[in-house]
Amino acid sequence: MAFAAPFSMVTRAGNFKKGSTVSDDNPSKRAIIIDTDPGQDDAIAILLALASPELEVLGITAVAGNVPLELTQTNARKICELAGRPDMRVFAGASRPLVRPLVTAEYVHGKTGLDGPVLPEPEMALEDGFAVDFIIDTIRARPNQSVTLCALGPLTNIALALVKAPDIAAKIREIVLMGGGFFEGGNVTPAAEFNIYVDPHAATTVFEAGIPIVMAPLDCTHKALTTRAREAALRAKKTPVCDAAADLIDFFERFDEDKYGTDGGPLHDPCVIAYLLQPTLFKGRHCNVSIETTSELTMGMTVIDWWGVTDLPKNALVLGDVDAGGFFDLITERLATL
Ligand code: RIB
Ligand code: CA
Repeated sequence: MAFAAPFSMVTRAGNFKKGSTVSDDNPSKRAIIIDTDPGQDDAIAILLALASPELEVLGITAVAGNVPLELTQTNARKICELAGRPDMRVFAGASRPLVRPLVTAEYVHGKTGLDGPVLPEPEMALEDGFAVDFIIDTIRARPNQSVTLCALGPLTNIALALVKAPDIAAKIREIVLMGGGFFEGGNVTPAAEFNIYVDPHAATTVFEAGIPIVMAPLDCTHKALTTRAREAALRAKKTPVCDAAADLIDFFERFDEDKYGTDGGPLHDPCVIAYLLQPTLFKGRHCNVSIETTSELTMGMTVIDWWGVTDLPKNALVLGDVDAGGFFDLITERLATL
């Protein structure tokens, strides 16, 4: 999977906006909500967040995506119990995209969405409320600019929250999301990445809301490959969580290894959490990102004005490079603490 985009010409993401990420001079925990469609890579992102004392996970909101909502909300609870966090609040959100029919990815994630390890059915309860209302209520209840949304799946829940409660847009600190692609193309169609493709209308709502966005597209995540050596380093920790994470990776990477002919597959969603923890692992550039919602040929394509040829607002910090070694060291060391 050769990748020749000119990301070497950008500065390190961590230098873009003082205070936009956790840094040494910001000892307080960073409050986050994780919106997710687990998914093996979502699972590792959630484990990384729950293993990191710099972050306060206020709740986890499940959305339909990799598999239907009934499974994503169940999988989110399985992961919390694996992490020893049955106290975590998990909510169910949207069961389908805003406009288009749901497209799922069992061909990648297996019929449960979390194939690989054998994880017990969750005993912790699903929260009664609707995920969208939890997002709205939490942002309204917290100080302005104190809550970061970490989006690991289709953006349906976040778009619904913005439509139901437009006032929260000015209150959200940042949205850090995995989605899109440009120089790398798409992974579900030649033009589109899965999260954006599933709900391009929701993505449009989010990218046009005027909220600071950090976007980890395939151009970045395709450089974070779960090589055999990296999986072995996880197993060498010999803990139940690291073993389960290695089993998740072992299943999840098969599809992409066959597709791209690589040693390992891209570990997409943990890039979102790793960015919050160690932004200097990444490089990126502020660009305009617009979403295709008309043409079926390019539906869900993230059109990134990388060369600034338009006057369109630079609505996202687009990450294009990651220090993969440092990324996997972070994941391995943190998961070993659970
Ligand atoms: O295209 C990769 C994204 O789609 C990841 O978030 C993966 O979990 C799937 O949701
Ligand atoms: Ca996901």
